[in-house]
This record gives sequence, C-alpha cells and structure tokens, in this order.
Amino acid sequence: MTAENRSISTNRRKAGWPSPLVDERILMSPDSYAPYVPLNTLKPVAESIWIADGPEISMRYLGMTMPFPTRMTVVRLASGEIWIHSPIEWSDDLASAVMALGPVSYLVAPNTLHYWHLPSWQSHFPAARSYGPPGLVAKARRPLMIDESLSETVPDAWKETFHQWLIAGSVLTEVDFFHRPSRTLILTDLIENFETCRVHKPWLRWAIRLGGAADPDGKAPFDMQVNFLGRRALVRAAIEHMIVLMPKRIIIAHGRCYDHNAIAELRRAFRWVL
Ligand SMILES: [Fe+2]
Repeated sequence: MTAENRSISTNRRKAGWPSPLVDERILMSPDSYAPYVPLNTLKPVAESIWIADGPEISMRYLGMTMPFPTRMTVVRLASGEIWIHSPIEWSDDLASAVMALGPVSYLVAPNTLHYWHLPSWQSHFPAARSYGPPGLVAKARRPLMIDESLSETVPDAWKETFHQWLIAGSVLTEVDFFHRPSRTLILTDLIENFETCRVHKPWLRWAIRLGGAADPDGKAPFDMQVNFLGRRALVRAAIEHMIVLMPKRIIIAHGRCYDHNAIAELRRAFRWVL
C-alpha cells in the first residue's frame, strides 16, 4: 500500500454533512442483542464464502445511541486471495482463521457507515489494498486511508468473482456485491432484518419495528429509504439487475440473513422502489 495513492483525512466532522447517521463508536458494554454465537468465528455459507459475526457497534442517531450487531463476509477469490467485506472488530483468533484460507489481499468498506474497523485490519495486513465508496474518507468519523474508490466498474482483482453496484444516496452510498460462483448477494444496510426476539431492550424493539427493519419483513429502514428520495430509479435498476442474476441467498450486515427464496425476498424488501 503506497502513501501516494492513499488519501488521508483527519477530519472528525465535515461541514455540510447533515446526517446524524455517522457518529459511530464502539459500545464498551454491549448487551443490546442476543448475539449470533459463536462470535469471531468463520461460518461457511457456500463454497469459498464465509461470514463472521462480531461484537456490537453503536451509532448516535437523533440524540440516541443505537447499537447494531456486526457481521463481515470473507471470500476466497479465484486467484486464492482473500477478500474481506465490512471487517468486524479485530480478533486474533478470527484473523488466524482467515489467514489459513489464503493471503488477505483486499479489505472492503462497503458503504459510508461501515468502515470503523478497517484501520485495525489494515495495520495487521499492510500489503492488502483497501476499497471504499466514493466520499468515504471525507465522511468518515475517524482517520481513514483508502487505496481505491469503488464504482460501477468491477476492479480487475475480483471481476471474475463478483458483480457489483454502486448505489449512491444523498447521505449513504453503498456498494453491493454478487458472488457469482455461489450466487450469493452481499448487501450491507440496504436490508436490515433484526430478529426482535434477540433484542433485549423494549425501546430498541420499538425503534426497529417503527423503522420497518424487523424480521421477517426486513428492509432498508424508513430513514434510509428517505436517503434515496429522488434516486429510486437508481436503486430500482440495481435491484432489477440483482433479480435477473437469480441469487440463491442474501447476506446482510445486521440481523438474520436470507438463506433461501432470495428473489422473493428482494421483491418483498424493495417493494418501496420496485
Ligand atoms: Fe450498518
């Protein structure tokens, strides 16, 4: 990773960034959810693709601190290199398991909210290239280094393995991926699907239901849908392309993944735009 092709921002807050969705910090005493145990453990999804659930993270939102469970996705590319999506909090045991799969070559912050743990993985894997959506460094709430901005054009490094879409909102911009070998769709926040039986605090269950992100009817929370006002055609085009590719399953970052009926789940979750 070379210094010249990295941009560095130490800005904690950028003027003109209006969203309360960005004040992200670690919960010191996470106890808001019954976690998807075991944590920090690779769980196979299909051939050459795994997820790992991690500790909670919280974001300040409308004066409240909203906790979220975390999940990263690990893919072994056709080259044998390892691609990590939305890295969770660093864990020596997890990292050892990942390294056993192959060389860690690519670290992906998939949207403008999912970057917090990227620096710790970068420091342990300095040869890995880091990717993020356009504008991430400027919006990040901590110093962040990115080698390459993601776009609609799939990088050569993984073009044989993935399709990808850049879905730019007024606040949140997300890049979504389709793992072609396993027909697995990898979304981040465009579907959130919290199992309320796992939520300990009544106010949080209420907020999740109010936001429209409760299992089994998980979707982009209503505030995120507002993020795409005026841009629904862009979202619709991406979702329609995903459907054409006939995914088998959907990995998401928060809550229960959809391990079957992926096309029907897409039509349901994105009925606000289709
Ligand atoms: Fe998220």
